[in-house]
Amino acid sequence: MRKHIVAANWKMNKTFQEGMALIEDVYKTLDGYKPNCEVLICPPSYFLGAIDKKYCDKLTFGAQDCSEHTSGAYTGEISAPMIASTVAKAVIIGHSERRAYHNEGSEMLAKKVDQALEAGLRPVFCVGEKLDQREDGTYMEVVAKQVKDALFHLSDKDFAKIILAYEPVWAIGTGKTASADQAQEMHANIRKVVAEKYGQEIADNCTILYGGSCKGENAPELFAKPDVDGGLIGGASLEASKFLPIIKAFD
Ligand code: G3H
Repeated sequence: MRKHIVAANWKMNKTFQEGMALIEDVYKTLDGYKPNCEVLICPPSYFLGAIDKKYCDKLTFGAQDCSEHTSGAYTGEISAPMIASTVAKAVIIGHSERRAYHNEGSEMLAKKVDQALEAGLRPVFCVGEKLDQREDGTYMEVVAKQVKDALFHLSDKDFAKIILAYEPVWAIGTGKTASADQAQEMHANIRKVVAEKYGQEIADNCTILYGGSCKGENAPELFAKPDVDGGLIGGASLEASKFLPIIKAFD
């Protein structure tokens, strides 16, 4: 059975002290409770080197982005090997905010995926259509193309390490969640596209997360869908009390 994951993407939120306190809070709320999913926390990268390994018995950690380069004169960038030298085991790649505000396209994202895999990190690769693409009916092909263009150069062995996250851009931070049926329709199609290239077994084992205004109230309905394997959570991951009900949606 494929892995269920509830992942927190803190984006550019929290000072160092606030972030450390939030990790402690999330960890404490899991005290005496064994989640039916992996709990992955992706804080701003500069926290990662300071996170105590003691948290890793209940939480896994990841970064929100990595460079497409291994090292060198790239001021401000953080490489996959740097991330992998901390507690981090994963990295989000291709988030719509990176695509929109940092002009990241499939060619660059493919290089980032390669960097992450080379460093031993699991890429959490994000895809999702914009509102006009949802409305003009091209959303299935838009998302399929995002998956193919950045990932289909991978070998079977490497593709099997990818976690996918479907995040309709119109649902991110807007309070408008995709309905559970809309999410299921897209996730099933992504899995079909993956199966056509990599075979049914790899497709069936691929974790596909949903992201976009996911919260405690709607997580149970979304996660009950057969092809929705968890969530990539923004706003509702910034307080332990709001994040916990999403983790518990798998109970
Ligand atoms: O990576 C997380 C997504 O962008 C979702 O953000 O839960 O604030 O809508 P949100």
